[in-house]
Amino acid sequence: MPEFTRVADVSEVSDPGKLLVEVEGEVVALFHVEGRFYAIDDVCTHDGGPLVDGELNGYKIACPRHGAKFDIRSGAALSMPAVRPTRAHAVKVENGGVWVALGSGPGSTPGPNNQAADFRSYAPTNTAAAAEVSPAPPASAGSPVVAAGMPATGAATAAATDGAPSEEAVREWLKEVKDPELFVNIVDLGLIYGVTLSPSADAPGKQHVSIDMTMTSPACPAGPQLIADTKRAVGSRESIAAVEVRIVMDPPWTPDRMTDAARDQLGIF
Ligand code: FES
Repeated sequence: MPEFTRVADVSEVSDPGKLLVEVEGEVVALFHVEGRFYAIDDVCTHDGGPLVDGELNGYKIACPRHGAKFDIRSGAALSMPAVRPTRAHAVKVENGGVWVALGSGPGSTPGPNNQAADFRSYAPTNTAAAAEVSPAPPASAGSPVVAAGMPATGAATAAATDGAPSEEAVREWLKEVKDPELFVNIVDLGLIYGVTLSPSADAPGKQHVSIDMTMTSPACPAGPQLIADTKRAVGSRESIAAVEVRIVMDPPWTPDRMTDAARDQLGIF
């Protein structure tokens, strides 16, 4: 049986409303929406943002740091840059108070606040591990580099060595660039909206590349690094004279732009 702790009086939390409470030494975000209470860890699984400080919209809470959204009923991550759920807790209302049992998940507790929602185990993003990963290998002029673990495709490599590269070749080069927090390449993440090649006016025989690229969120902290890595991955090729990167936020990025390979890597099914 889960151990319930009384965390607040029912009247303390407006509807809709939220309150930061403490349960057995852990900080928990308590929500009151349409007459029912919900509790999840006050920790964004992207990078530890305090969820209770975010904007509550229906059953969604937006992390105030980079905008990831979570379902307050289940803790499920609904939008990037968070990909893992935060922990959800069982809640009950009794004797005028709101009671929370850590880690029991919604749906495991009988009573008026029993939520039939999908509950998944908490697995925080391991940012330390991501930071230890080596950066993409530097590209050497004239010799196309293929991302680690990715086989070279004949079309891409041939295009890279035989004069003008194709758009496909440029996209293969761009797979060297990985989001430093998610550690998935930007092509499979669906961040590349367009690649345009045109003969360079300044360097005969070489190409000017224009890349339309988006970010997983408007305030993506990895933005400057991704732009720099993108320019380096393409601009270091012998056949390329210049690279222009344009950040496009319309249409906004959504998780359904990811390839199956990216979903597999992130554990999203
Ligand atoms: S810390 Fe929450 S979205 Fe980055």
